[in-house]
Amino acid sequence: MARILTGIQSSGRPHLGNILGAIRPAIELSREPQNESFFFIADLHSLTSLRDGQQRREYTRAVAATWLAFGLDTEKNTFWRQSRVPEHTELAWYLNCFTPKPMLENATSYKDKMEKLGIANTGLFTYPVLQAADILLYDANIVPVGKDQKQHLEMTRDIASSFNRQYETDIFVLPDARIDERLMTIPGIDGQKMSKSYNNYIDIFLPEKELNKVIKKILSDSTPLEEPKNPDSDITFQLFSLLASETQVAEMRENYLRGGYGYGHAKKALYELMLDVFAEPRQRYDYFMNNPDALEAELQRGETKAREVASQTIARVREVLGFS
Ligand code: ADP
Ligand code: TRP
Repeated sequence: MARILTGIQSSGRPHLGNILGAIRPAIELSREPQNESFFFIADLHSLTSLRDGQQRREYTRAVAATWLAFGLDTEKNTFWRQSRVPEHTELAWYLNCFTPKPMLENATSYKDKMEKLGIANTGLFTYPVLQAADILLYDANIVPVGKDQKQHLEMTRDIASSFNRQYETDIFVLPDARIDERLMTIPGIDGQKMSKSYNNYIDIFLPEKELNKVIKKILSDSTPLEEPKNPDSDITFQLFSLLASETQVAEMRENYLRGGYGYGHAKKALYELMLDVFAEPRQRYDYFMNNPDALEAELQRGETKAREVASQTIARVREVLGFS
């Protein structure tokens, strides 16, 4: 049996990139009978960049509703809010004392954020240590993440082995990152990587009219309607291909190459495809967003299960550290 674990920060509403790049593949992995999955909302991590409590509450609900909308089975798996399980912060403190400062100074995510945003709170600096705690608390074997998280996983392994070596124990399981290289980076409406921070994302749960408006904003070149177009360099076509069947993609390619088919037509087709492909998740998302009690019940069930595992790990750690 493999234990799968991953977390998503509640620093915004999940977008198409998060869903296709992280949430959907993780849910697929969780469906394999031999796997047991631990998925959580990294709301403590979101505090490194988001201060507004009301917003965090809303984003946390949106992230939770998205996982549930895409069919996460909370009976088989464990799904919770990081902030509700205090063992995360407790273990993070212990691990801080086993983390060489230069290792954190070398973290590319920290250096990037420092350069781009100019923010440098200590939470951001020790972000990878809290992430290590998230992973080690649950004896995770496999951590599915995006390429940008590779270094954080290496740090987790380093911290865990240094702890294990020091106490001659195997308290911590060394996790492996699962980085799906085939999963391409989903482009945003401007052609850069889709990201909250670039404000170029598609929120697939928007009401129909608003969703249509965003899709109409997708960047395209100025080739006139009558002329043939290159599908491979077009963002609308790329997004369409990610969601459509092979036959639909082949037909769309034909349309582009034939000419007489405008970007407006392609965008309308993409909009309709999204409504079709995401009909059920959109409905489920609305249900959970409109029924906070149902959403809360799901999260509380996960919280109880997560605490059971986390408290056992913490007990082992306290024992070797002399805190018991
Ligand atoms: P954002 O860039 O919007 O802040 P995050 O960094 O919070 O997104 O990413 C959360 C998860 O979604 C990560 O696993 C990340 O790899 C995945 N992800 C984010 N953007 C994309 C994208 N454009 N294409 C594929 N996966 C993505
Ligand atoms: N740092 C991850 C991201 O930004 C989120 C995260 C926090 C995480 N804790 C984790 C991912 C533990 C995997 C495992 O995407």
